[in-house]
Amino acid sequence: MAQLKLSSLAKHFGTAVAVEHVDLEVQDGELVALLGPSGCGKTTTLRMVAGFVTPTAGQILIGGQDVTHAPPYARDTGMVFQSYALFPHMSVAQNVSFGLEMRRLGRAEREARVGEALKLVKLDHLAERLPRELSGGQQQRVALARALAVNPSVFLLDEPLSNLDAKLRSEVRLQIRALQQRLGLTTLIVTHDQEEALTMADRLVVMDRGKVLQVGTAEELYERPANAFVAGFVGRCNLISGFIDPDRMFRCDWGGAFKTPDSSTPGKAIFALRPERVALQPGAGQGIAGRITAITYLGSVSEYHVDVAGNGFLVSMPPPPNDSPLRRLRVDDPVSLSWDVAAVRILPFEPSSNQGDEP
Ligand SMILES: Nc1ncnc2c1ncn2[C@@H]1O[C@H](COP(=O)(O)OP(=O)(O)OP(=O)(O)O)[C@@H](O)[C@H]1O
Ligand SMILES: [Mg+2]
Repeated sequence: MAQLKLSSLAKHFGTAVAVEHVDLEVQDGELVALLGPSGCGKTTTLRMVAGFVTPTAGQILIGGQDVTHAPPYARDTGMVFQSYALFPHMSVAQNVSFGLEMRRLGRAEREARVGEALKLVKLDHLAERLPRELSGGQQQRVALARALAVNPSVFLLDEPLSNLDAKLRSEVRLQIRALQQRLGLTTLIVTHDQEEALTMADRLVVMDRGKVLQVGTAEELYERPANAFVAGFVGRCNLISGFIDPDRMFRCDWGGAFKTPDSSTPGKAIFALRPERVALQPGAGQGIAGRITAITYLGSVSEYHVDVAGNGFLVSMPPPPNDSPLRRLRVDDPVSLSWDVAAVRILPFEPSSNQGDEP
């Protein structure tokens, strides 16, 4: 039985639709990430699960029980808010104890649970401090301890790493994942950072404008995106709109023509190609002719921005060895691009949709 099940969940604020018809199951012990751009309805979905927002329609089941209209303290959830929302005038221990008092636990039980939760996040030595006497990462961990102390069946995390610097972020990310796996917590985490989602989650849910566009593992979403938005949001992708002619040639709106896989059907479509699947040669060769507009060295990969007849193409590859002619490429140099047709994905045409972060 699914530990957490959302059925046709929706939230309207007046005439504005924040969440529209979300169906989702999170299995026992699974970590699922809600991923999507700002305003797509991630926080609203999480707050409905926690009981802070009343759904306009739909149902929430936790462990098979309908909790759609239960108050927050009567649900078996622990939530970490987008801002840590610690009480500034309370000590670390009092902050962690708060949810337990709401649940009317006895003093001895509360103290035991607070001690345990603080130990889990390695803050037991700072129990008497006030939040302002802690670093950002420590405050973040107090918020985690507060949510863990209630022994939740469902752990809800709303961008729990948003206020941390890059290094601390990747540390705390690993800590949360290890803790979640060790305790077998059924977890729904919100993020708009795709790297965070890819590294932490068993499965990802990509949302846009209140709707779930696709649910799957990182690999499924990366290799078989359902549409251009998902392709552009999970990893980077060259996305070109046009149509497939009866000979299965993809005719770009700007005039270029590329082969498509045999399985493609004629009609309007979006041509998708991952930047690491494109090969780049210096000079005018047999491939598609282009010109370098920028080269970015990112350590483990180099990115080449190439202009092809006025259209941007992104190519990424491991940095070429010192003796490679690619090493001498500069902005404005001519290059040719080629790829294996098997790397091409044909996605449904979407007239006015936002296609994620197109390169
Ligand atoms: N209390 C509210 N009243 C009216 N509109 C709201 C309310 N809360 C959220 N919204 C709207 O609902 C939509 C979804 O908001 P939500 O906070 O769920 O987005 P989000 O995906 O968490 O975004 P972010 O990544 O910026 O945190 C937004 O358009 C927002 O303006
Ligand atoms: Mg939010």
